[in-house]
Amino acid sequence: MLQCHKPARTARDRAITRISFAAAHYLGASALVKVCPLPILWRNADVMPDLLLVAAMSEAVKSVGAERPLGSRGSRVELSNSGSAELTPTATAVLAAVPAWWRAQAAAAGLAGRWLDVAQAVPAAPPVALPLDTPLTESWGSLTPEQVGAAYVEALTPATRSRHGRHYTPPVLAAHLWRLTRTSLGLSPANQRLPGLVRDPACGSGALLLPALREHLRASYHEDPALALAGLPNLIEGVDTDPAAVWITNVVLAAEMLPTLARVPDSRRKPLPVLAAVGDGLAPTERQPRVMIMNPPYGRVRLSEEERRRYAHVLYGHANLYGLFMAAGVDALDEEGVLAALVPTSFTSGRYFSNLRAHVGRQAAMSAVTFVEDRSGVFTSVLQETCLATFERKKRRKTRITSLGSTEKTIASVKVQKADEPWLLPRRSDDAAVAAAASVMTESLGSFGWKASTGPLVWNRRSDDLYAAWGSNRSHVIWAADLDGGILHRDKARDAMRYLALTKPSDGKVMVLDQPAVLVQRTTAPEQTRRIVAAHLDLEALVARHGRVTVENHVNVLRPSGPDPVLTLEAMTRLLATKTMDQVIRCISGSVAVSAYELESIPLPDLEVVRAWNELEGAALEAAVATAYRPEGD
Ligand SMILES: C[S@@+](CC[C@H](N)C(=O)[O-])C[C@H]1O[C@@H](n2cnc3c(N)ncnc32)[C@H](O)[C@@H]1O
Repeated sequence: MLQCHKPARTARDRAITRISFAAAHYLGASALVKVCPLPILWRNADVMPDLLLVAAMSEAVKSVGAERPLGSRGSRVELSNSGSAELTPTATAVLAAVPAWWRAQAAAAGLAGRWLDVAQAVPAAPPVALPLDTPLTESWGSLTPEQVGAAYVEALTPATRSRHGRHYTPPVLAAHLWRLTRTSLGLSPANQRLPGLVRDPACGSGALLLPALREHLRASYHEDPALALAGLPNLIEGVDTDPAAVWITNVVLAAEMLPTLARVPDSRRKPLPVLAAVGDGLAPTERQPRVMIMNPPYGRVRLSEEERRRYAHVLYGHANLYGLFMAAGVDALDEEGVLAALVPTSFTSGRYFSNLRAHVGRQAAMSAVTFVEDRSGVFTSVLQETCLATFERKKRRKTRITSLGSTEKTIASVKVQKADEPWLLPRRSDDAAVAAAASVMTESLGSFGWKASTGPLVWNRRSDDLYAAWGSNRSHVIWAADLDGGILHRDKARDAMRYLALTKPSDGKVMVLDQPAVLVQRTTAPEQTRRIVAAHLDLEALVARHGRVTVENHVNVLRPSGPDPVLTLEAMTRLLATKTMDQVIRCISGSVAVSAYELESIPLPDLEVVRAWNELEGAALEAAVATAYRPEGD
C-alpha cells in the first residue's frame, strides 16, 4: 500500500542531502545510513526530495540533545510523551540544520546581524538544545519551508509517525485545500488579506498554514510592513502536540515574513511573531476562527468518560480521532466560518460517523469536496479513500464535486447532504444522474425490512477448527472467493479450510446459517469492474452443503426480516447485479469495501416500483432499474 518511491533528484533534493550531511558532520557522525523516506503523502517527484542520507551517531547527538524548557507558549508537561523522547538522531540532525537554513533565508531577504540568528529573530525555543553556529551554506537556502518540515517528519521512526498521525500534507494538496477554502470564503481571484483567524489545530510543521500566510502577506504588500507583521497573531494560529513540529512551524512561518521584515526600518524591527503553540488541538478555543483548516490525525481512540460526554452528540460506537477534530472544528467556527479538511471519506458513509454527519450537517453545509485520486501522485488508497472538503456555516444548497488526479476534473454539483444516512457523492460524472435520483429517494433496503450482517467467521481466530473434510459437527464455510462472478460455487483454493468444526457452545447460534440468503462480497479487488458482487444461497445450495453454512468475515449476509419481502431473494440478487446498483454503491463509498450498513442504506424507489422488479430479469430489469434512478425530467 505504501511505497518507498525514489523520485528524480533536483537541485533542491541535492541541497537537502547536503543539509543532512552537514548536520551529521556537525554532530560528529561517523556512520551514514541511507534512510528510505517512505513518504506517505509525498509520492510526487516534484515535491518529495530524496532526503535524509543521515543517521547521526547517538553519542554525538547526546551532546546536543539535552532538553531545554519550552518557551512561554509550551510547557514541560506537554513535552513528555510526544516530545524530544521520540526524536531520532536523524530528526535531531534535521533540527540542528534549521538555524543554518534560517540564516540562508534571512540573508536572501537582505537582512543581517541578529536577524540571521533564528533564536533572536523568532522567540520560540526549540524542543532540544541545538548548535546555532552551523556553517552557512548558500545552497541550503533553496529548501522550501515544506521540505524542511518533510525532512523532519520523515526522519521520525514509522512507529512514532503512526502513533501520533504525523504524516504531513504535500504542497499540491495544501494548495488545493487553500483554493477550496478561499472560494468558500468568497475571496476574489487576486491575492486577498485574510478576513479572520485561520487555525490549524494539528498543524504539524505548518504545511496548511503556509499558503494562507503567503497570500495574506502578498496582499498586504502595500501596507505598513510593521503593522502587517504585528497583525499576524490575529490571523494565523497553529497548534500541535509535537514540540519539534511546532518549533519548525514557527520558524518556517517566520521565514515567510522575512521579506516583509526587511522592509521595516531597522530601528522599528521587532522579533517576528510566534504563531504556533504546543497544545491539544481538541481543547476548547478562546478565539472563534473564521477558518479551521486541518489534516487531522486519524485512527480509533479510547476516550475518557468525560471526553465521551463531550463528544456524545457526534459518536456512534467507537470514536475516530479525525471525526472528533472535524466536530470540534465546525463547532469552533464563527458564523461565517469555513471548515476545510483533508480527511478519509469514511465520514461520508460509515455507520460510526452517522451522528457526526448529522451534527456537521446541522452546523454547516459541505460546499465542496475533491476526491484525491491515486494519479495525483500523492498517497491515497482504495481502502482508505481521501478527500479535501470544505464546510460552510453559511447556507449552501449545492456541493461541488471534483477529483484531483494528474489534473482537477469537475464531476458534478449535487444537493447538499445533511442526514445521518450515507451521503451520495458521485466519484465520476457518469454517476452524477444516478446520485441525484437516489438522493431524493426515501426508501432503502433497510426501510423495506432487509437486514445485512457481516459473516461471523474470522478464520485466523478459528484456524484450529478448520478442516478439509466434512464431519457431522462441521459446517460448510462460504468464502468471498466462492461468490466470484456472482455465482455461488466452491473455490478450490479454499478447500483446505472448507469446514468449521462447531466446537464452541455458541457456534450453533452464531456461526450457522441454515436459511437461504443473498451473499455479498465485502471487498472487491480494485481492478474488478464491479463493487457489488452478490450470489444467491438458495435452498438447493444449502441442501448441497449439508443444510448449513458458516459465512466468512469477508462476506455480507442479506436477508429479509419479514415474511413478505418486497423482493424475493432471487430478485434481490438480480437487482444487486445490475449496472445501476453498482453505480449507486459507488456513490456511497469510493473504497473497494461495501459494509453491511452501506448495503442496508442503498436507496430504493417506491414500493410498487420495486415490487414490479420481481418479474423482470436481464435487459428488461436493467432498463427498469436505470429508469427508476434517472432524475425527474431526464
Ligand atoms: C496528519 S498530521 C498533519 C500535520 C499538518 N496539518 C499537515 O497538514 O501537514 C497530524 C498532526 O496532528 C498532530 N496531533 C496528533 N494529536 C494531536 C492533538 N490531540 N492535538 C494537536 N495535534 C495533534 C500530530 O503531531 C501531527 O503533526
